[in-house]
Amino acid sequence: MKTSRRHFLAGSAAVSTGVSFPFHLAMAAPSDLHARPGTAQIAPAKYAPTKIWGYEGHVPGPVLRVKQGERLIRRFVNELPQPSTIHWHGIRIDNAMDGVPGMTQDAVPTGASFLYDFVAPDAGTYWYHPHNRTWEQLARGLYGALIVEESVPPETDRDEVLLIDDWRLAEDASIAGNFGAMHDWSHGGRLGNWLTVNGNGDYRLDVKQHERLRLRLINTSNARILSVQLRQMSGWVIALDGQPLEAPEPAETITLAPAQRADLIVDILAPDGGEAFLASAEGDSGYAMATFIVTGSARSETLAAPSPLPPNPVAPLPAADSLSSARVTDLKMEGGAMGRMGSAMMGGKMMGIRDLVGQGKAWSFNGMADMPAEPLLSAARGETIRIRMINETAWPHAMHLHGHHFRQLLADGKTGPLRDTLLVNRGETAEIAVVADNPGDWLLHCHMVEHSAAGMMTWFRVS
Ligand code: C2O
Ligand code: CU
Repeated sequence: MKTSRRHFLAGSAAVSTGVSFPFHLAMAAPSDLHARPGTAQIAPAKYAPTKIWGYEGHVPGPVLRVKQGERLIRRFVNELPQPSTIHWHGIRIDNAMDGVPGMTQDAVPTGASFLYDFVAPDAGTYWYHPHNRTWEQLARGLYGALIVEESVPPETDRDEVLLIDDWRLAEDASIAGNFGAMHDWSHGGRLGNWLTVNGNGDYRLDVKQHERLRLRLINTSNARILSVQLRQMSGWVIALDGQPLEAPEPAETITLAPAQRADLIVDILAPDGGEAFLASAEGDSGYAMATFIVTGSARSETLAAPSPLPPNPVAPLPAADSLSSARVTDLKMEGGAMGRMGSAMMGGKMMGIRDLVGQGKAWSFNGMADMPAEPLLSAARGETIRIRMINETAWPHAMHLHGHHFRQLLADGKTGPLRDTLLVNRGETAEIAVVADNPGDWLLHCHMVEHSAAGMMTWFRVS
């Protein structure tokens, strides 16, 4: 909108002054992306709209779409009452555009702006969110989808983006304000009481029997691990965290930790007049997260199984023998409720657990409860590194690596799918390997955003 209006004004100025305006200059004016307060009907209609913070004042923010290999340019304008940044989650991005305050840029103060300009090298489903006071800003509704389109998309009847969020609402449907609650920070994070899909607590879509949909699921929750099942539809997982699977896998229960994505191809099985569902399969009570209302029929029978998506240009891991000799770095995760952490380093001093909690810290990585001055590791550009994440806490954690995708090394010598966020269960040790080919300083943190704020954050350097 902004671009075309500017373009028009530039064009009319050119006419009135008789100066010919180079076309590309006018076109180069970036679109703005404002973070600002707004309202949204996330609770049922009998409640007043909820005050949120959103990109362009909406939740979710606009779906940004760019073709693989193209540049995305947005001038971020901060109209929030506190500083913010945008992190483009999962994009193997130019480090300066990664949106990490204090590391890749300064936080953008109220009223100021920052120009994000980067190439999206990989097709797939990504998202954007703040990286300053994320535990508050994300919970208030600041997030949106970033879709990088394949040059030849798979054949489906439609492509739907579903951002799934877990809100903590008060009685009057306002956002509960206890963002810094230490009980949440030291337990499972800020878990909510109201689930929405695209900001809607009763998300419905009209479909046809045997219609084929691509569903792009994105878990934007602060801390909730989602468990999703298909009802009255069948389907395949074709990509995880944006990256295509080598072969589509039949979709059974899909676990989505905070920040994780899954691309599905589904066929509607329910007949004309029926309904299909994405069901949340938490505990024993499943409930509908999204309802697909079937009217008519798209074709007489379901289509054949889909082909895999073309792979993205991610550097492959080396062969088994050199992988086994790659450097291993341990990351010991400690703390939290029911954990055994008695003390940890903070601000260069050893502190007992009471003092740590007084400072809002409850977890540690390798004995450190705040961002270490030194990186967890330094890699030479192109080096393959292995990180052994040893979860000695009583909680699962969604470990996110910036700027890269990695694979889990599995017991039988196999490797897991490419991911940018891995769920590491309580007591589990998960080893990942990554070709560190993106220069810069990159975060590695838990994406249960209360956990990262309370100590689960470190970084690594690629030079
Ligand atoms: Cu989606 Cu460092 O985060
Ligand atoms: Cu965590």
